[in-house]
Amino acid sequence: MATTPACALVIFGASGDLAQRKLVPGIYGLAKEKLLSEQFMLVGFARHEMTDEQYRDECKAAIEKHARLKPIDAEVLNWLLQRTYYVTAADYGDDQSHKRLQDRLTELDAVHGTGGNRLFYLSTPPAQFEPIIDCLGQHGACSYEKAVRRLLVEKPFGTDLTSARELNAIAHRYFDESQIFRIDHFLGKETVQNLMVMRFANAIFEPIWNYKYIDHVQITVAESLGVGTRGGYYDKSGALRDMVQNHIFQLMALVAMEPPVALDAQSIRDEKVKVYRSIRAMRPVHVDQQTVRGQYTGGVIGTVTTAGYLKEKDVAANSRTETFTAIKLFIDNWRWSGMPFFLRTGKCLSEKVSEVVVRFRSPPLTLFQKQCESPVYPNDLIIRVQPDEGISWRLNGKMPGGSMNIRSVALDFSYKSTFHAEAPEAYERLIADAMTGDQTLFIRADEVEAAWAVIDPIEIAWAASKRGPEPYAPGTWGPESAQKLIELDGRRWHGNGEEPEPIIACSL
Ligand SMILES: NC(=O)c1ccc[n+]([C@@H]2O[C@H](COP(=O)([O-])OP(=O)(O)OC[C@H]3O[C@@H](n4cnc5c(N)ncnc54)[C@H](OP(=O)(O)O)[C@@H]3O)[C@@H](O)[C@H]2O)c1
Repeated sequence: MATTPACALVIFGASGDLAQRKLVPGIYGLAKEKLLSEQFMLVGFARHEMTDEQYRDECKAAIEKHARLKPIDAEVLNWLLQRTYYVTAADYGDDQSHKRLQDRLTELDAVHGTGGNRLFYLSTPPAQFEPIIDCLGQHGACSYEKAVRRLLVEKPFGTDLTSARELNAIAHRYFDESQIFRIDHFLGKETVQNLMVMRFANAIFEPIWNYKYIDHVQITVAESLGVGTRGGYYDKSGALRDMVQNHIFQLMALVAMEPPVALDAQSIRDEKVKVYRSIRAMRPVHVDQQTVRGQYTGGVIGTVTTAGYLKEKDVAANSRTETFTAIKLFIDNWRWSGMPFFLRTGKCLSEKVSEVVVRFRSPPLTLFQKQCESPVYPNDLIIRVQPDEGISWRLNGKMPGGSMNIRSVALDFSYKSTFHAEAPEAYERLIADAMTGDQTLFIRADEVEAAWAVIDPIEIAWAASKRGPEPYAPGTWGPESAQKLIELDGRRWHGNGEEPEPIIACSL
């Protein structure tokens, strides 16, 4: 990455969980890698009353606890803290607080030479996005002919198509689309970017990357923990809105899109939008047949006991919010005609894993089945987003010896062991890109709306249904119906324990 240009990064919600766990440590990571300009400053804005010194102490503690690169480099840390400030707000939509913020920014621009360039990062609960944007607009902070002004918005961007359109309209009141950066931190992950490299920088994949050779695609984003302290937010959202509309759809779009004409933001995002627009719309009957929702009950995962979703803090005792969903989708275009995509996500599942599994069709003749003691499994291409980012090819190989025994073997590529380095934190890459003005890894207005247009009919059908989510025990792979969803098709989820782990034939 190139060094970022002069910039004041303003974090709204600076006292929050995300800012402390990811954003401030990520900014330290950029400083440590020498990717921040000398003309950089960080300004926190939130309602907790704090002086600059107190905020610096909070940032220092957050960096010491959460930084990716350890041990902490005292010189870099001091450099960063010397250009860190804080403005206490009466409220996020309070006019006087915003006036103080703008005055402080003008005064500090002169100290740090930031030239009036500003990136406003909205890291508050979504209800605060509109008042903040309105205040920025009314204080003339959104455009300035001599400098660059940008807006970075955290997820969720809306809760349905209508609210996403409204939020887009609010942002467009004051900012041009070229100034708006809607974040999905999955796009900052190395493996997710590597999906495009794998598909378009290797000639072997493109001829077989279609329904003729691929049987189906599975995308899993599984968490082993429950909602923890985020019950209040989660109960209004649920797994479909929280994970499928953004992270899983982004992964699916990168797997399914056509080759872009160039590697610029517009060309890539044009192709992703086409994928969303090609997803077959679900009528209520399809929602019934092609979606599953579940809710975790009380139980034990490893050494952790959970009382169940309905007993979580800030969750309604009669909540019908899903903590698990599995969905079968079709992308009705030339490449994917009739081939299913299976998506699943949930909390309190048997392991924490995010992966894409591209399962190829079996060979046309099952020549080896009769002679083999064990079944011959189809080839899988597994793209692991987390943990241990990498790519694995599952092939079939002959076991040594006189008989024709076939065993699943894997060609494994792991980021860590190949490049002898941890993949950088997604937020580091994304913050740097937003300061630089590169929108490739951010979501465009029409993209976010097209994704909600797919989700809305499912939410509406679920809300109208008499049936609530199916209970599932913590530490499992979700409710029974999730297995049936794929098994009735004659397929099975990857990693459900039925297939033997492959022998690692080659570790790159
Ligand atoms: N945390 C994560 O892991 C995560 C992951 C992905 C996306 N996000 C998104 O990032 C944003 C920030 O998340 P977060 O977890 O950092 O949120 P948070 O800790 O709940 O809130 C951030 C800050 O906003 C202020 N705030 C909280 N509730 C408020 C309310 N009801 N009214 C006005 N201000 C309020 C608080 O600061 P003051 O009281 O000091 O003003 C708080 O420190 C959200 O949009 C979230 O969806 C978070």
